[in-house]
Amino acid sequence: MFDLPALESSFSKHMAALGAPDSISFHGGDFFTDPLPEADALVFGHVLHNWNTEARKHLLSNAYQALRPGGAVYIYDPMTNDENPRLHSVLTSLNMLVWTAGGHRYTAEECRALLTEAGFRPDPPDPSDAHDEVLVIGRKER
Ligand SMILES: C[S@@+](CC[C@H](N)C(=O)[O-])C[C@H]1O[C@@H](n2cnc3c(N)ncnc32)[C@H](O)[C@@H]1O
Repeated sequence: MFDLPALESSFSKHMAALGAPDSISFHGGDFFTDPLPEADALVFGHVLHNWNTEARKHLLSNAYQALRPGGAVYIYDPMTNDENPRLHSVLTSLNMLVWTAGGHRYTAEECRALLTEAGFRPDPPDPSDAHDEVLVIGRKER
């Protein structure tokens, strides 16, 4: 688990309440200034939509550096779909525009393009593209 250092005590309390205090370790840091921990898999859940496109590129580039060959990055967000925009995605996007400093909507196709630019091989579109929450996977070659 990687998050801002201030989150560590809440994380520890939460894991203790789940009865699994040592099953997941916490890595405190700022993902814009600190390297991500070396890993086989990284998950950005409800993270990229909080930031502008340049920040997303930066985060995916850091993820590519941190992943071991053969690893993958998993991105889930309420991505919008231009052909058939879903209410949940559109309202979430409005929310991002109001309270973040640059977060905004993006589509699964845009996500795959950002992954390619960062060096990943994105998985092809799948049926989850049409759901409220979309999962896009980028693979790092072995
Ligand atoms: C919207 S929450 C997503 C939480 C969870 N992954 C989910 O799916 O609901 C965004 C997370 O990014 C973390 N975060 C924000 N800025 C960060 C930064 N600069 N470095 C590391 N983590 C950061 C926040 O503390 C928060 O836990």
